[in-house]
Amino acid sequence: MVYEIYPRSFADGDGDGVGDLAGVRSRLPYLRDLGIDAVWFTPWYASPMADGGYDVEDYRRIHPAFGDLAQAEAFIAEALALGIRTIVDIVPNHVSSRHPWFRRALAAGPGSPERERFWFRGGATPPTNWVSNFQGGTWTRTADADGTPGEWYLHLFAPEQPDLNWEHPDVRREHEDVLRFWFDRGVAGVRIDSAALLVKDPALPEVPDAPLPGRHPNTDRDGVHEIYRSWRALADGYRGTRILIGEVWMPDADRFAAYLRPDELHTAFNFDFMSREWRADQLRESIATMLAAHAPVGAPSTWVLSNHDVTRPVTRYGRADTAFAFATKRFGTPTDRELGTRRARAAALLVAALPGSLYIYQGDELGLPEVEDLPSGAREDPMHFRSGGVDPGRDGCRVPLPWTGDEPPYGFSSTSATWLPQPADWGGLTAERQAADPGSMLSLYRRAIRLRRSFESAPFAWIDAPDDVLAFARGDGLVCLANVAGRPVALPRGAELLLASSELVDDALPSDSTAWVRPAPAETPHR
Ligand code: GLC
Repeated sequence: MVYEIYPRSFADGDGDGVGDLAGVRSRLPYLRDLGIDAVWFTPWYASPMADGGYDVEDYRRIHPAFGDLAQAEAFIAEALALGIRTIVDIVPNHVSSRHPWFRRALAAGPGSPERERFWFRGGATPPTNWVSNFQGGTWTRTADADGTPGEWYLHLFAPEQPDLNWEHPDVRREHEDVLRFWFDRGVAGVRIDSAALLVKDPALPEVPDAPLPGRHPNTDRDGVHEIYRSWRALADGYRGTRILIGEVWMPDADRFAAYLRPDELHTAFNFDFMSREWRADQLRESIATMLAAHAPVGAPSTWVLSNHDVTRPVTRYGRADTAFAFATKRFGTPTDRELGTRRARAAALLVAALPGSLYIYQGDELGLPEVEDLPSGAREDPMHFRSGGVDPGRDGCRVPLPWTGDEPPYGFSSTSATWLPQPADWGGLTAERQAADPGSMLSLYRRAIRLRRSFESAPFAWIDAPDDVLAFARGDGLVCLANVAGRPVALPRGAELLLASSELVDDALPSDSTAWVRPAPAETPHR
């Protein structure tokens, strides 16, 4: 069970309105009480923050706003003493445009060896018409020393994030060194950013309308697997756990599973589940497909309801369209927060009952909604700006957490001038308030995480159920029933209720609810 920490927004220890390592250390008891096994930090490195830290200037230095290396090491040790391992984010596809390599490449000019670590190309027009993951083009033109227009460089994300050329031996060597740097400091694993994008077709063709598997010019090319094989060998050279977790957005389940072969990544984020609507057939199909895709490679599935890039579940599940897609994010989409919260509770229990690893994005355990009315001057996300303001961007799921009290900054910081403003009505959502309320989202998460340990490795088996209900067993100790949109369903006869996301009504599980029950012991046949 891995808890994702977005360090800017977790807790602020030094009162500058930005979360930091001192803040996370002060909240270690909270993480311990939650019961998770590991934390994953989104990038904590030195960065100009053009993309929330995914534009890394120095992979071996902590961003001064977050602290320093000594604090990171202290965190790793203190967390481990509480049974919590640390996973860091590795960003191999691109660096910051302030990274020394890129600065040197700009200074050295066209044709220089320094430029070969990136994708520089000449010409009067951009070399391709590829579309950036943040919209717009993927090429930015440089200026030569005399100010005349120079070469173009490739960036699949923002212009501040030039893509590295993975054909270059320096790029490979450097990243292996960065892995060793963090593994040597005791981190238990790495989350690999944009893991499927590293390798490009050097001929730089246009993207075909329907690329054949492995033939897309910049995504999921076969050459990427060799990189992860060498990373795996490196990780396996350590004693103790060093796991590789891929951020792999990939609709094709078999292509996805190829990353998880025994000599590659240990696991990768399953984004299929969050891309599905809150409908029993959709969710059932997603679970079945994912379990089937993982079985032949022997890797654990992952279950992810959200992260720092996507709409918070209580907001998403309260909308008419409950599936997540970047392309459909728009301002002013109505949501029914109460319904969304009810479903988010049900979804949390559903995924927590599944086999594999569970990822929890900070604040989901508090049921925080997406903050949709941030003042426009406060927004920072390049996704918003590069869409011409049409896409609200990802700031709304990155608002600083509420810990205590009734008004901003809710114990997040000593200043209310937090880097993103917090809503005035989050007093009821603070961790303190919810810890004292057995009916809260936090209490539900804590109990689910604790109970999950008892069936974590038990075999999974579907159970026959009405169409609107997902039902499965984990060994003989647990049955999970998720009533996605149906009439109330009775619990199995003689079963003991362990945990439910909503109150039962007349002993039945109402719609948009999940229950965990312990089935009645099988009857021993009479002799
Ligand atoms: C990943 C990160 C996202 C970032 C992008 C570029 O998708 O999760 O936050 O913007 O990569 O690094």
